[in-house]
Amino acid sequence: MTYETLLTIIDNGVFTITINRPDKLNALNKKTIEEIGEAIKLAESTTEIKAIIITGAGPKSFVAGADIAEFVGLSVEQGKALAKSGQDVFKQIENCSKPVIAAVNGFALGGGCELSMACHLRIASDNAKFGQPEVNLGLIAGYGGTQRLIQYIGKTKATELHMTADMISADQALNLGLVNYVVPQDQLLSKCTELIEKIKSKSPKAITGVINSVNAYFADGVDGFTAEVVEFGKCFATDDFKEGTTAFLEKRKANFTGK
Ligand code: COA
Repeated sequence: MTYETLLTIIDNGVFTITINRPDKLNALNKKTIEEIGEAIKLAESTTEIKAIIITGAGPKSFVAGADIAEFVGLSVEQGKALAKSGQDVFKQIENCSKPVIAAVNGFALGGGCELSMACHLRIASDNAKFGQPEVNLGLIAGYGGTQRLIQYIGKTKATELHMTADMISADQALNLGLVNYVVPQDQLLSKCTELIEKIKSKSPKAITGVINSVNAYFADGVDGFTAEVVEFGKCFATDDFKEGTTAFLEKRKANFTGK
């Protein structure tokens, strides 16, 4: 599958999606959002793909936001539709049954910060900068940023970042709990691969159960504890559960099939 705004590669079960508009610091235009949705759909349906990395082309930017050039002249209804289309794709990422890691290789501003937050885990290079600068444009975040930033760093600091448009460094993001790790830029993808290899050695069925249960904490009208009961119960019908427990009792390494 080829894309206009993305580069993709499958290597050793890892699907890397690179947003490829480096001359615009990988700003998300409508086509990019649409293609990210298509790529995640492909990842869901491709058995060979076990995990996904989302990153940006070039050394300077992960994604510097939604494409501001596309905002000009939009009506209220068109603005709402734009936000809804971005939110839908970002929810698709968040609810992906396979682990999705953001490799944040520079600016993660506006829609870029929001894209990283839709991923299950975030690893930042030491030059990364995070922020929600929409108020500089007379806007607010529209791709879930007002909701997800609170989930990661709490209401106090999230409100400050949304109101001031301040950028924070990778180390500040680490201290606030927004990212999992900060590494030198040349080690960014190897750190992602290291984490993915660890996760890939576990039961894929159980990993999906973790994703669903964690997401349930924040889902509207869903009791997370009830969701956990359901996900826990589902594990007992899987080959992975049989293999995991048998391997433990036989004192050997489990060989999970994801069934
Ligand atoms: N939408 C559209 N184009 C963008 C963009 C965005 N969000 N962010 C950067 N670009 C474009 C610039 O217009 C410029 O294009 P040009 O060379 O055709 O003029 C190119 O990317 C490089 O950006 P530039 O501003 O020259 O780089 P810089 O190093 O001086 O500044 C930033 C980097 C990230 C600080 C600055 O680009 C910026 O503030 N971008 C907007 C961030 C933002 O508000 N995001 C939220 C959008 S809702």
